[in-house]
Amino acid sequence: MFQAGVLAALFLFLFFSRRHRLPPGPSGNVAGEFTNLTMPEVFEKWRRKYGRIFSFKLGTRIVIVLNDINATTDLLDKRGEIYSSRPRFVVSHEILSDGKRGLSAPYGEHWRKWRKLQHMGMNGKAALYYRDQQTLEAAFLLREMLASASGHEQALQRFVTSNVLGIAYGRRILDLKDEMVSFNYKSALEFQRASTPGKYIVETWPSLLWLPRPLQWFRPGLEVLEKIRDKDRETYMSYFNGVKQRSEAGIAKDCMATYSLSHGGNQGMTDVEVAYALSAPFSAGVDTTLSAIRWSLVAAICFPDVLKRIQAELDSVVGQDRMPTFDDERSLPFLGAFIKEVTRWRPVVPIGIPHATTKADVYDGYEIPKGATVFSNIDVLVKDPNLFDDPEAFNPSRFLTQHKPAGNWNGKVESGFTIPFGFGRRVCPGMHVALQSTFISMARIFWAFDVLPAAEGSSIDPTKTVNRGTTREPAPFQFRVRVRHPDVERIIEAESADADFRLKEWEY
Ligand code: HEM
Repeated sequence: MFQAGVLAALFLFLFFSRRHRLPPGPSGNVAGEFTNLTMPEVFEKWRRKYGRIFSFKLGTRIVIVLNDINATTDLLDKRGEIYSSRPRFVVSHEILSDGKRGLSAPYGEHWRKWRKLQHMGMNGKAALYYRDQQTLEAAFLLREMLASASGHEQALQRFVTSNVLGIAYGRRILDLKDEMVSFNYKSALEFQRASTPGKYIVETWPSLLWLPRPLQWFRPGLEVLEKIRDKDRETYMSYFNGVKQRSEAGIAKDCMATYSLSHGGNQGMTDVEVAYALSAPFSAGVDTTLSAIRWSLVAAICFPDVLKRIQAELDSVVGQDRMPTFDDERSLPFLGAFIKEVTRWRPVVPIGIPHATTKADVYDGYEIPKGATVFSNIDVLVKDPNLFDDPEAFNPSRFLTQHKPAGNWNGKVESGFTIPFGFGRRVCPGMHVALQSTFISMARIFWAFDVLPAAEGSSIDPTKTVNRGTTREPAPFQFRVRVRHPDVERIIEAESADADFRLKEWEY
């Protein structure tokens, strides 16, 4: 009797002392939900049921999903000291990458130094330096597009990849068969494979790694990854050393690698850490920027009136005697609004890259445990009717007028529209270079060409998408380009011949 009373008292104490609950959400084993639907689709299904913040358990992890701009900025921006880590990836980050990749690094000293280098190499001011290469590569891109009536995928991919390698190493590529490209793709693929849920037992039970090696029956699988890691490290080091040699010879182009060399010796990072940090622009910047460019083309094909308005603006500001440049950017507000609207209409990282908490927290009466994985559902935020009228419509003009969003969010939707690039201390450091690449390629393509469906009368369905890791792109589509005015071919030939010559500075 006494025992029962004590138990009852204990139960009541625990019940009432635990004032905060996890946000609502599905219970039990939810892993099966992700077999037939993509993560953004599952999140959407649960959002409709559970609302602005929901939670679920995946293996041993608590996952919180934020579907509301105020909750997202309150937590990821304003409580950045708690919400800026990444979920732990034992195999892909700690074993395969030796803990060196910053994108998957936990919040802490290593990430801070890595982040400083990303910032130094790509902040708004540093980004201006890459405009030369981006402009020249865009002339080259037009020549490649002119040479083939359709199937411009390779040309676009080369354009984006070359610019990203220019940022990291001050190097360009002439084609996609380049060894640096195949190596980086292979390495990204290995990272993705190593992150596959359920593939490695140590992902769920990391303490197994404390077993004496001879007892680690799972070792052979990890040893394969350790060999890949050694090769990765050697290759990244060879790229960094290549820039060092060019820098010593006084012929290196300014890039993230030369910034690290010239600003007080690697920012306290070891050579290997810098070498890994230089791989981030490729792994985070190619698929994302390429996807933004593909969506821009899809939008231009699906909304021909919008394309006509961009072209009218280009004709009146730039004329037909020369190609647009970055100097025209301020005079092309509709094109700028178009690019913002594309990033809103089809965000290329639909559910962001998950953050993780480093301390327990309470928000809106909900418990957010330490170590929780926190997603910001970008796809939903950019379609919030409180922020955007008629959010499903593709309407670049919404970014032409000062727009005060409803609700109590005091972020600026108009000039400071950065939701597609994430939040807080982890916000995309490549945002400026990505927008520059998108601007110059779109300005030049739309100046030179009408962008049309591949066959007369055919169309593209902009709701068909393909998810690739964390990015989402349009389903493969074909389009053709038609020269807009008589001088286009002559101007492309002249500009691209000049680009061939000037881009030699980036060739090695
Ligand atoms: C349209 C193109 C792009 C989009 C939409 C995009 C979006 C994002 C998003 C949503 C994140 C996660 C932010 C967060 O955790 O809250 C991110 C992170 C990141 N992005 Fe981008 N990105 C783009 C292009 C680029 C480019 C071109 C680069 C580099 C050249 C780049 C480098 C990075 C890096 C290094 C991170 C990790 C930051 C960290 O963990 O601290 N991104 N990006």
